[in-house]
Amino acid sequence: MNILILGGGGREHAMAWAVRQNPKCDRLIVAPGNGGTAAIADPAQLDIEDASRVAAVAKREKIDLVLVGPEAPLVAGVADRLKAEGVTVFGPTAAAAQLEGSKAFTKGICDAASVPTAAWARFDDAAPAHSYIDQVGAPIVVKADGLAAGKGVTVAETAEAAHDALDALFADPGGSCVIEEMLTGEEASFFVLCQGETALPLGTAQDHKRAFDGDLGPNTGGMGAYSPAPVMTETVTARAMDEIIRPTLAEMARRGTPFEGILYAGLMIEDGAPKLIEYNVRFGDPEAQVLMMRLGAQALDLMQACAEGRLKEARVNWADDHALCVVLAAEGYPGAYEKGSRINGLSALPQTSDRMVFHAGTALEDGATLATGGRVLTATARGASLQEAHDKAYDLARRIDWPEGRFRSDIGWRALP
Ligand code: AMP
Ligand code: GLY
Repeated sequence: MNILILGGGGREHAMAWAVRQNPKCDRLIVAPGNGGTAAIADPAQLDIEDASRVAAVAKREKIDLVLVGPEAPLVAGVADRLKAEGVTVFGPTAAAAQLEGSKAFTKGICDAASVPTAAWARFDDAAPAHSYIDQVGAPIVVKADGLAAGKGVTVAETAEAAHDALDALFADPGGSCVIEEMLTGEEASFFVLCQGETALPLGTAQDHKRAFDGDLGPNTGGMGAYSPAPVMTETVTARAMDEIIRPTLAEMARRGTPFEGILYAGLMIEDGAPKLIEYNVRFGDPEAQVLMMRLGAQALDLMQACAEGRLKEARVNWADDHALCVVLAAEGYPGAYEKGSRINGLSALPQTSDRMVFHAGTALEDGATLATGGRVLTATARGASLQEAHDKAYDLARRIDWPEGRFRSDIGWRALP
């Protein structure tokens, strides 16, 4: 079959890598792709948020299945358009993608379906938002209401910090925000394949959102991850399915906007009780890198079954293994950083089913790999234990010769002895 993957990050390289291992995959296109996907797939330069262009390319290239990596094309209605034109697509409609597109929408679903989550309020104007903070005090969480690539959130320890965050949010006209109670506990990412009210738990992971060791510094898109997440025990997973995922899917279906695709629940777990922090309507990045490495070729069968409406028949065959990944980012990320530096030593590294350096912001120029983004590479490894996966991933990361890059040295600290 011919497959088109939309996106150009580490997540999409990992998806392409897993899909390529499946003998069903004939032609693979990644749009726009990166310096890593170029080795295993054809690139296509197109605006992936332009639904009619994506549909036109899918038809011209006789694509049998489109896998959408990031959220922006989904929120923009790319899956709706592909479906309307008879192209099979893995990913939700724009209406269902509101679970990520609008925090207020998701909070409304939680209220309607009695899903446990932080208490919240939404504001379109600065003045009442400031008085609300004066009234409830800190700690408190201030979020922009809209897509912000995981960066529109301030966990404020003091009321002053919360007021500052509001000032920043309302500096531009038309701002709106959600203010939430701060949840405590341990965070985990829970991935569930969904087709209407059919739900198949796919896996768990833990991300490291802060830029620096010790979970310090600014929030980033994610600096490293591992799978599975030990905090997601069988009991916690069962509760998350019963109390969070199933009620959400039922409410979405009841509203006539059933969710199809991968639902990524960001959970906070305290005393064995999971609460929803937020939903994403796509795989996480870098969580996809560890999930894809563990799933291998079956990732394609699972996403295809979901896209073709056969999720009820699908099964996940998990090996008893662990994966861990370390993100190499440009010095300065998530703030300002240089582009165009040269990365050496990649070709000497192993590329096997248990060791891969997935590319994100890279481009190939005259045979050289150049850094073109903030998050640039993800050194990813699998092993019989988390320690083994950790040691293999760090060995890869250290062998990459890129003086302009940096990585956290403590990925996995929570789960390692
Ligand atoms: P979000 O973009 O909603 O995932 O938020 C980014 C990060 O902020 C999350 O991964 C959490 O670490 C943190 N966060 C968001 N909401 C809350 C909350 N209500 N309580 C505690 N931490 C939160
Ligand atoms: N790693 C967090 C995210 O993909 O949103």
